[in-house]
Amino acid sequence: MSDSLIGVSIASRSMAARDIVSLDLVSVDGALLPPFTPGAHIDLHLPGGLIRQYSLCNPSIETGSYRVAVLLDPETRGGSRAVHALSAGDRLFISAPRNHFPLVESSADIVLLGGGIGITPLLAMAYALYRESRSFTLHYCSRSSDRMAFREDLHTAPFADRVQLHFDDGDASQHFRAAEAMGSHVPGRYIYTCGPTGFLAHVLATAKTAGWPDEAVRYERFSADVDTHGGHFTIIAQRSGLSFTVGDDQTIAAALAANGIAVPLSCEQGVCGTCLTKVLEGVPDHRDLYLTDAERAANDSMTICCSRALTPTLVLDV
Ligand code: FES
Repeated sequence: MSDSLIGVSIASRSMAARDIVSLDLVSVDGALLPPFTPGAHIDLHLPGGLIRQYSLCNPSIETGSYRVAVLLDPETRGGSRAVHALSAGDRLFISAPRNHFPLVESSADIVLLGGGIGITPLLAMAYALYRESRSFTLHYCSRSSDRMAFREDLHTAPFADRVQLHFDDGDASQHFRAAEAMGSHVPGRYIYTCGPTGFLAHVLATAKTAGWPDEAVRYERFSADVDTHGGHFTIIAQRSGLSFTVGDDQTIAAALAANGIAVPLSCEQGVCGTCLTKVLEGVPDHRDLYLTDAERAANDSMTICCSRALTPTLVLDV
């Protein structure tokens, strides 16, 4: 097991809403956990070898524990089922927190728009913004009240007066109206949003229509949203001495495997970094959520489970 992994145990397990389990994780040796910033996520190394990524949703000043909330999703490949099967006292390994969805350091006002389980990173943000006496509002949308995680926590939070809850099955007066919720952009105002694909598409389209500039609209997609499709290109596997085509509907990892080159894979959704591979020539079309902007711009590594090529050929160190 890698040195960078952290051994934790489940201090408590509860149902935060229908089909949503909440786990509090503490270090097995009683040490403090590494600090995190709002918007950060961790990898959970689950029984059966699965590795999945979940946002931390507790206040980021709490270094004694991490809280994750996970929706049971029968459509996925087993990650959420494995999390729901965990019990208090179980031990597992996690990664240190990484943050691809950080809050800007200063702002005049922030609008947090969360749909469903997409509330998790926004909760940590709300706690931090309140603590720092910064201006914000939080809109939280759910299909129904029994599916809304942490509803009681939000009612009793010190920032409860800045929270608006919206239910699809409630009366029309409280339905989510994205344009109304976000208002108009002025310099220093930012939107942070996370939620299911349809919710996110609606928020982003509304923001564009309302004239919000792209850089003022920050969002986090669920990892399963990564699009791995695109035109075909050639891979030269330098160390293996092989060259072959990656088809339109094929990933580089799948093409490598089809040519007898085994590569380590985990999430297969561009979030964990397990498949990170050195690029020797060519320009990758980065589709992942793992690399930072600076790492992408360096053009010397790529996640081969989902990323593709911007040049006709990529030479990889495999
Ligand atoms: Fe996780 Fe590729 S396997 S980023």
